[in-house]
Order: sequence, then C-alpha cells, then structure tokens
Amino acid sequence: PDPGWTAEADVVVVGSGIAGLTVALRHAELEPGARVLVVTKDVLSSGSTRWAQGGIAAVLDPRDTPEEHLSDTLLAGVGLCDVRAVRTLVTEGPGALRRLMERGARFDRTPDGELQLTREGGHRRRRIVHAGGDATGAEVQRALVAAVAATPAIEVIEHALVLDLLKDAAGRARGVTLHVMGEGARDGVGAVRARAVVLATGGMGQVYAATTNPAVSTGDGVALALRAGAVVRDLEFVQFHPTVLWLGEGSTGQQPLISEAVRGEGAVLVDHEGNRFMAGVHELADLAPRDIVAKAIMRRMHETGRDHVHLDGRHFGRATWETRFPTIYAACREHGIDPATEPVPVAPAAHYASGGVRTDLRGRTSIDGLYACGEVACTGVHGANRLASNSLLEGLVFAERIAEDIHRSRPQPGAPVPATAEPGLADPRTRPRVQAHMSRGAGVLRNRASLQGTVRALADARWTLVQVAPCTESWEATNLLTVATVLAGTAAARLETRGSHWREDFPDRDDDEWLGHLDVTLTEEGL
Ligand code: SIN
Repeated sequence: PDPGWTAEADVVVVGSGIAGLTVALRHAELEPGARVLVVTKDVLSSGSTRWAQGGIAAVLDPRDTPEEHLSDTLLAGVGLCDVRAVRTLVTEGPGALRRLMERGARFDRTPDGELQLTREGGHRRRRIVHAGGDATGAEVQRALVAAVAATPAIEVIEHALVLDLLKDAAGRARGVTLHVMGEGARDGVGAVRARAVVLATGGMGQVYAATTNPAVSTGDGVALALRAGAVVRDLEFVQFHPTVLWLGEGSTGQQPLISEAVRGEGAVLVDHEGNRFMAGVHELADLAPRDIVAKAIMRRMHETGRDHVHLDGRHFGRATWETRFPTIYAACREHGIDPATEPVPVAPAAHYASGGVRTDLRGRTSIDGLYACGEVACTGVHGANRLASNSLLEGLVFAERIAEDIHRSRPQPGAPVPATAEPGLADPRTRPRVQAHMSRGAGVLRNRASLQGTVRALADARWTLVQVAPCTESWEATNLLTVATVLAGTAAARLETRGSHWREDFPDRDDDEWLGHLDVTLTEEGL
C-alpha cells in the first residue's frame, strides 16, 4: 500500500529491547544533534528482553578470564562460532555492562557491595550478573526505557509494525515502511526515511506452538531482511531451553521459563522416580551446555514414556526460592506447584534463534546501511548453540559497535525508490497451522521424513496467501510462514547433528561435510 504519511530520521531503529534501545542511546550520545527514531510493534517495554531471567555473562571475577569465557562459548557453539566475534564479545562485554549500569541498571550485590555472580549451563566459572534475583531482563528494560525517556533526541513510535525496507536506486537501505495502529497523525501505513536502518526485532520463537518467547516474537526482522534480499544465516539452529515449566499436554503459547540459574545454584534434574540422569552424560552434569541437557531430557522422556521430567530444588528451602527466584517461584505457585516441597515439572521448549540476519563485526548486513543487532542477527558469536546469558551481552556489545559504525561511516543514501511489489499476506489463521507443523516436524528432534513433511505442509500453507488489508495478525502470519519455510528448509538440508540441530537420521557431527554455514537469500524465483 502507498504510504499515507512520511517521517524523516537520521537513524531508524526497529525494536525496543536491549539491542534497539542501546543503539538509540549510544547514537544519541555520539551525535547529539541527530534524530533517532525507535519504532516498536507493541509498547516500548514489550519484547523478549524483559522476560530474561538468568542474567548477563561477563568476566568480572578476578579469577576469571576472557580466554575462559571465549573457550566456554566456542565449546557450546560446536565449531560454528566466529572466533573474532566471540573475542569481541568477551573482551568488550565487561565495559558494555559497566555502561549499562551507568545508564541506570542495578544488579544484585553481595553484602560487601560486589556484584553477585552465578553460573548457568556451559559456564565453568561464576560470571553471570542478575537483578531482582531472576528478573534481570525486567530491570534492564526498565533502566533503558527510563534512559530513552530522558533523551529528547530519541523519538518513539509504538504500535508500529515494520513492513518492508525502503532502498535507494543503488540498493542501499533508505528507511522502512510501517503500519501504525492508533497513533494519531501517524495512524495507518507510512514511511520513515533514514540514512541507516537497524533491525533489533528479536527472535522468532512463535514459529513453534510452545515457546518461552512472548507473542510478539514472530520473526519480523528476518522476514523483512529476506524480502529485502539480505543474507540470512543458520536458521536451523533453534535453541530449545531444557527447563520450561510443563503445563500439561498440548499447552501452547508463551510458557514460563525456569532459569538455568536454578541449576546453577544447585537444583538437579530427576525423572518421575526421582533418579538423577545428567551425571555421566557430561562432565558438567546438570550444568552441561543446554543442547546436551535438552537432548538428555528428551531421551529420558522417551525411555520413561513421560512428556516431562522434574527439576528438584527442594533443598533451597522456601526463603531462598522466594528471594533468589521470586519470578519463578510466583509462576510455579500460580500453576499450583510449590518448588519448596515438590520437584517442578519441566520439558524443553523453543527459546532462542542462534541464526539470523548475517552481519559482520560492526553489525552490517549484506545490504549497505542495513544493520542487525540482538537475536535477529547472526553475528557469529553463537554458532550452533548459544551459551547461556550471552544474548543480552551480545545485544549490548554489538549495539554500541553499530552506533559507532553509523557515526563513523555516515551513510548517505540517495532518494528512496518506491518499494517493490507487496507480498501476498497470509490469512491470520495460518499462524497456529505453522506452529503445529513446526512443532511436529522441525522441533527439538528432526529427521528427513518429518522435515520434508513440514516443508510440504508449509508450501501448502502458502496457498492461503490472500490480498487482505494489512493488519498486524496477517503480517505476523506472513512473517512466521516466511521464516518457518527457511528454517525447515535449512534443517532439512543440514545432514548432521550439531549443537541445537538434532537429526535422528544423522546422529553424528560431521566436520568433513558440514563445518560451515547455510546462507539463504530470497530472489525473485524464491529461496
Ligand atoms: C535462563 O535464565 O536460563 C535463560 C538464559 C538465557 O537464555 O541465556
């Protein structure tokens, strides 16, 4: 549709989690006169960041070193991390975290005032800072939203669903089209022209029926990037968090997370008879990297014929549950479970996209002037499986690098050319169908038949594309269908098991054939 309104900005940031707001704040610091526009699909504080529990990993303990953080990250990523990206992450991480604290975030401290550090899966050291016990993301989001509110150079448009990238005649990013709902003069479809566009739209967990992600995580940034012709990398590597509160068979939508930090503080996984099963699976036992824990849980569920296992933290006692893990304690109580007296039922659920829009170390995508940051991006730090609590850190570190790159390179694109043909939009009822197909055929355990069936079912779903007036639900369904199609396709193509990509029919890692990435670009002919 033709834009009904237009706006101008120097930089438009799409998304308002840790990545997007940090880019905006840093850019406003670097270029005090610049106009930074943050657009967000819901309200400023929605999105995945505020749901983060465990924390932010950074080398702060004098006994810890960036080399050890690097080594843990590379091990978790099973050969597919970009070592330079990981080195950037672990060396710049502590400084970026300090600047987050200067922007107002307050983390839990020991009685003598030091930052309290915990452990999570795959970390050999205590290096994870947290806030409010298990409400780290909520505190980070609070602090960043307050900092943005105190920065007049940053303008915010809420309820603004991003549609497509605007480009100039040379193919450089020149802004975005948006569909804004109920925001006065900017209601309806409009265009924002900017000299740089930053995608910080978060993840795509909603391609699955059960996920820890909020309802807004519908892969909008990856779908936009694909439509714009950008390179998208490694979408098959979807991380399934091992311990999500099990709410009964067939429970769908956003599910409550039980942070790895609960195991970091000493809770253990047991089956329905109370037998521990992680010892012997990995030297870190219950604190093995999360792909290994998720697989061990699935195997035990299969052996016992049950659809969940348990997490036993009864020995913490009620006071510790209430103070150290207040969010988790409240979620359990809300569902009739008392973790102080009974083991908590848990099962894996979709949690994090390790792949995404391919970027370099400055967050630059394959399209000039288009940047990607946070979960939407594939910077190379996660490889085949992200290390716990590296995601907020990645958002922080690469957001600052992006703001600095925009400041330094001062992109000057030409006049925007009209957006190319609109894609057909999916019927909103496609969403639950996509989720059901993906959970059944491209979930934690995959094989050729299940993946081919999923690819076929998604291709059939494409026939439900209709020309409907743009509304959030139809755009979200379209984006889910787009990213699910690529995800199932790359999962079918990768004939090995590596990290969070688990193939029943190719159970081993194959470094001879598969120590590489799967890059996807959408062309006129399709993928
Ligand atoms: C958790 O708290 O277990 C989640 C942390 C993460 O996903 O990095």
